[in-house]
Amino acid sequence: MSTHLKAKRVTTHVLSEMKYRGEKIAMLTAYDYSMARIIDAAGIDIILVGDSASNVMAGHETTVPITLEEMIYMASGVVRAVKRALVVVDLPFGSYQGDSLQALKSAIRIMKETGAHAVKMEGGREIQESISRILSAGIPVMGHLGLTPQSIHKFGTYVVRAQQEEEAKKLVEDAHLLEKTGVFGIVLEKIPAKLAEEVTSSLRIPLIGIGAGGGVDGQVLVLHDMLGITQEFSPRFLRRYHNLNQEIHGAVTSYIEDVKSRDFPNEKEQY
Ligand code: KIV
Repeated sequence: MSTHLKAKRVTTHVLSEMKYRGEKIAMLTAYDYSMARIIDAAGIDIILVGDSASNVMAGHETTVPITLEEMIYMASGVVRAVKRALVVVDLPFGSYQGDSLQALKSAIRIMKETGAHAVKMEGGREIQESISRILSAGIPVMGHLGLTPQSIHKFGTYVVRAQQEEEAKKLVEDAHLLEKTGVFGIVLEKIPAKLAEEVTSSLRIPLIGIGAGGGVDGQVLVLHDMLGITQEFSPRFLRRYHNLNQEIHGAVTSYIEDVKSRDFPNEKEQY
């Protein structure tokens, strides 16, 4: 049996064992109790309460507007559902950049008020002080490099990152710095597969990719994208495993028809 299914609970230690054994890590986002319960029972290793909730749950164009309070509300529901997966919560934009004490306070709120197991933060050396301070409080941190959506207004676009030598060099340096600082893993988003593979083989901690090819230690996708609930977002890296949008649309259409035609409720569906 694979390490992750034997594990009663997935911990950061289990994840590093999985990397050591060459066993791939499967990670998905979730933002509520009901979905988290389904994907945890299915055997997902890491559940990320991602700030992508800003897009898929709240309908914002970017991840910038979501607040710490909103993240805490969602993460609490997810944690109540989960029996096995490691639950990681994104520190939202504005809750950690530029002030390591504020970063620590934000991370402590997430850990205390939600019961989650770790936090994730976007960036490299710019946020090293904040990461160190959070780690010194005993809170596990996951890094996030490459395309970092909280900085979308700086990049101006969601194109593949680190294609030029200078940016690729900084990404490699940041990844090593994050490992040295003590993060337990790093998400690599939308970077060339070759670069992601090089970084992965040069670090001991697990690297989880999204649009970073197959040479990493694991994969992460946004749940609503891979289930086909969202339709408008179709990057090359996204594999859709279902068309839930169509299924839900069909079910709701049938329900409306049944109500209008007085077919629902029937005699057996009443008291
Ligand atoms: O917020 C999120 O969903 C993420 C993933 C894309 C890794 O950070």
